[in-house]
Amino acid sequence: MNAFDEQNLRAALKGRTFGSIVFHGELDSTNTEAWRLAERGAPEGTLVIADRQTRGRGRMDRVWYSPPGGNFYGSFILRPPITPDRAPQITLTAGVAVAEVLSRYCPDGVEIKWPNDVLIKGKKACGILTEMKAVPAGVVFVILGVGINVNMEASDFTAEIRDRATSLMLETSAAVDRVALTVGLVESLEKWYRVFLRDGFQAVRGQWIARSRLAGKRIRVSFKERTQTGLALGIDDEGAVVMREDTGLIRRITAGDVTEEK
Ligand code: BTN
Repeated sequence: MNAFDEQNLRAALKGRTFGSIVFHGELDSTNTEAWRLAERGAPEGTLVIADRQTRGRGRMDRVWYSPPGGNFYGSFILRPPITPDRAPQITLTAGVAVAEVLSRYCPDGVEIKWPNDVLIKGKKACGILTEMKAVPAGVVFVILGVGINVNMEASDFTAEIRDRATSLMLETSAAVDRVALTVGLVESLEKWYRVFLRDGFQAVRGQWIARSRLAGKRIRVSFKERTQTGLALGIDDEGAVVMREDTGLIRRITAGDVTEEK
């Protein structure tokens, strides 16, 4: 097992254009640090990694639990030449990349949950937080933050998330080399990001649909105080969930939490 440190990560990623590493034992949040570096001109493909985060952040101002010694917390700086409305598609593209990598460890049971979670056997193993700086003319940079529960024991999770979260080690019964995992993630992310830039989200969409189990499910969508229910038909070329309400109305969902109705 390789020690998860800057030297090993740099050696493993040597020669790649993507995955130029900035490593810290501890950061407030890799997204926050990546944002600071991007403001100072850090190039596309820079990857900020920490062994521990003191203020790991999730979507909707949630906390991302980030203890040291076993997980992956990393944020890529991207500079895609796209309009700001397409940025959510980068989250979906990253979900495909992460699901591809996790499937190598767990061939069964990896599933993407719209928009940004990757589950193993129904429990959350990865979250993705995309943040963007944009001007009217376009995106200046995107920070793509990825948190993967790698070598967490069940007892390492807080009581609040224990029933809903899992880790690669829990699912495979073997400790996972975080350096090798990082290399796999960089390769997969770069590959799918290039497909997205070259051919658009429609070229990623098929993989996203194949790796999610959304279509055909009854779902509940919560956003702020509002909840809607209906039948999920899939996602469209823009990455929005397409849902048929019980009234027959077809609705596009672009934000919120989607849960399956039991
Ligand atoms: C979510 O599921 O709500 C998104 C979680 C994203 C967590 C990652 S960990 C690395 C990066 N730094 C952060 O502060 N958040 C993201």
